[in-house]
Amino acid sequence: MVALAADHGGYQLKEEVKKWLDEENIAYKDFGTLEEMACDYADVALPACDAVVSGECEKALLFCGTGIGISMAANKVKGIRAACCSDYFSAKYTRAHNNANALCMGGRVVGPGLAVELVDVFLHTEFEGGRHQRRIDKLKAIEDR
Ligand code: RB5
Repeated sequence: MVALAADHGGYQLKEEVKKWLDEENIAYKDFGTLEEMACDYADVALPACDAVVSGECEKALLFCGTGIGISMAANKVKGIRAACCSDYFSAKYTRAHNNANALCMGGRVVGPGLAVELVDVFLHTEFEGGRHQRRIDKLKAIEDR
């Protein structure tokens, strides 16, 4: 199960990505926003990120205007490693090396065609572990200070 969340700046892109997830038979839970009315990215990020941390969802796909605000909000949630990406290489290696569990994209930055490429590689790239696990352990140590 994939958690989805967007503010108004990312709403349209979230809806486009949902169409692709439907085509691919990838299950998701949409934590909103469910309309284009302005809302705050921190409010929508939190329940989606909580669902990842609790294990209800494996990963989150998060959207705002730039992808940046919602990534900042997500990275405040203990256990979330969110990456704001607008290129294929980053979306791939934030899984392989950072074991990112949230992909953030900007609805005013990334078009729908690229967005589904980023989502596809993000959802289907495995974490490589090894030396990268040590680095992630250090992120957790910072989080636990
Ligand atoms: C909302 O206008 C916009 O500021 C928000 O979607 C996001 O881009 C912030 O990082």
